[in-house]
Amino acid sequence: MARNRPDSSGFCLLPPSASVILPMATRSKSSQRWLKEHFSDPYVKKAQAEGLRSRAAYKLEELVERDRLLKPGMVVVDLGAAPGGWSQWVRQSMGDSGRVVALDILEMPSLAGVDFIHGDFREDEVLAQLEAMLNGHAVDLVLSDMAPNMSGVDAVDLPRAMHLAELAMEFADRHLRPGGAFLIKLFQGVGFDDYVRALRKRYTRVVIRKPAASRKRSTEVYALAQGRLPASAG
Ligand SMILES: C[S@@+](CC[C@H](N)C(=O)[O-])C[C@H]1O[C@@H](n2cnc3c(N)ncnc32)[C@H](O)[C@@H]1O
Repeated sequence: MARNRPDSSGFCLLPPSASVILPMATRSKSSQRWLKEHFSDPYVKKAQAEGLRSRAAYKLEELVERDRLLKPGMVVVDLGAAPGGWSQWVRQSMGDSGRVVALDILEMPSLAGVDFIHGDFREDEVLAQLEAMLNGHAVDLVLSDMAPNMSGVDAVDLPRAMHLAELAMEFADRHLRPGGAFLIKLFQGVGFDDYVRALRKRYTRVVIRKPAASRKRSTEVYALAQGRLPASAG
């Protein structure tokens, strides 16, 4: 099956208006609002003060600590990792032990102790690179914060996001050790309930979380699936 979809691109760090063609006045207004909101955001300030690459790291911190997801020595895969806040936080939390493999369609400045693959997760060759890097080792924790470039049009954005989520679930199906955990960003809307149902068939416990650092107006939530059942269950 072809994994790639040529029509979608991946990027979530620009103001939402950067990807869509809008009249100049509208575009500059929403860009300005985004920049104002971004630089007055307490999590952005905290990340800058603490030397973390993204405010997203605080979402992961809350999610991981609440459910004690991380232990030294784990093999962790971080999908949609750039600019690197999650990988950085995981690496710091595990100290020198374990392994962190990160992947993103965007380039990411290197992080000590993190193996990075630059490529589109939808492409078979990129998946093959990731699998080669794992070299047959089972994964303890799969993280996916992947998000496509949002156009603001749900009918376009949600299928793109869901396609990435489905590929991440397939990856977790194949590479998580039995009992392992999968944490994924999802957007509420078409396909969400079916996706969560599919997770429940594969894991003993599935919860939906909205961490404090996740913006209230965003439809993003995180599904945490723990206790991967044997492969036949999925
Ligand atoms: C919200 S950001 C991740 C932030 C990251 N967790 C952090 O803490 O720095 C979402 C990421 O998903 C990536 N992405 C989107 N589509 C992708 C794809 N097809 N393959 C790989 N990465 C993709 C984007 O490039 C972007 O860096």
